[in-house]
Amino acid sequence: MALLFKSDIDRGDSWRRVLLELEPGLDLREWPEIGDPNDIEYALVWKPPQGELKTYPNLKAIFSLGAGIDHLASDPELPKDVPVVRMVEPGLTAGMTEFVIMSVLYHHRFMLDYAAQARAHQWREIDQVPAWERRVGIMGLGVLGGDAAEALVGLRFDVAGWSGSPKNLPGVTSFHGADGFLPFLNRSDILVCLLPLTPETEGILDASAFAALPSGAALINAARGGHVVEADLLAALDSGALGAATLDVFDTEPLPQGHPFWAHPRVRVTPHVAAITYGDTTAREIALNIKRFRAGAPMSGLVDRRRHY
Ligand code: NAP
Ligand code: GLV
Repeated sequence: MALLFKSDIDRGDSWRRVLLELEPGLDLREWPEIGDPNDIEYALVWKPPQGELKTYPNLKAIFSLGAGIDHLASDPELPKDVPVVRMVEPGLTAGMTEFVIMSVLYHHRFMLDYAAQARAHQWREIDQVPAWERRVGIMGLGVLGGDAAEALVGLRFDVAGWSGSPKNLPGVTSFHGADGFLPFLNRSDILVCLLPLTPETEGILDASAFAALPSGAALINAARGGHVVEADLLAALDSGALGAATLDVFDTEPLPQGHPFWAHPRVRVTPHVAAITYGDTTAREIALNIKRFRAGAPMSGLVDRRRHY
């Protein structure tokens, strides 16, 4: 039972140790030292070269090292009948909630303005609103959005979420589907994107979405760059329709030198680090899923290939 392992992130030692503790029979092969491709039954990958995964005739499951699988789904040669499993693991969820809380508080407490004032040695108080009057909207109320929403409710924010199907989360106003999108945007002073990137959600944050937000709203995008039409975002920021943005993900990564986001006074840039998968907890989830798969039980994080997430 061989598992192929390819990562752009160096957490190999930790995966190896925990996987072998939990699945001692596992024959771990690190790409490109794959041996006989016929041996490979499972693949643990982040961004494999396009067409690579079709070269393993006995592949039984593909595990994404991240929550998103858009980088796999965009491979036209991805084997059609092999289950794809996205990463659901407590470290990733906790990390994303930290990032969302940090960013929401940053905008809620006008830290961008205070940082600019401090640079100008300016002592000026900005009128603060209480958290329960700040309306936070989370696009995507799945594993990550749901956890962040719960934490924001704990901080007393007025929280709503938008998803494909209705949700019942304590203290969170639920909007769903195409009909729910505009009313959801209309009440989002701080908008957080935690959607998967699919043909339906690509470019969803465009000029019309920004125009539907309350004037001066803030955007936090911790999902994928492809959700945002970058030119529309820049125009909305420059006109003041949008007050600020925290961006962790971009159309092109790394964000090219000279891109207007780097120097924009209303934009904060982080290098796709909102949440990372941790070695131990990730390996544990993969080992558990392999056990489930072999027992014929449902795997956690199994992707619905028709929905693309
Ligand atoms: P998830 O559990 O699959 O949740 C996805 C949510 O989006 C669900 O609530 C789903 O609605 C909703 N959704 C999907 N398509 C929709 C549509 N067309 N209209 C309305 N709602 C829609 O995913 P997750 O684990 O929370 O992860 C979300 C994304 O975060 C990942 O795909 C990845 O791109 C991103 N991410 C980024 C980082 C980073 O470091 N920046 C780290 C981890 C993840 P239903 O509940 O009705 O299905
Ligand atoms: C990171 O971007 C992930 O999808 O986990």
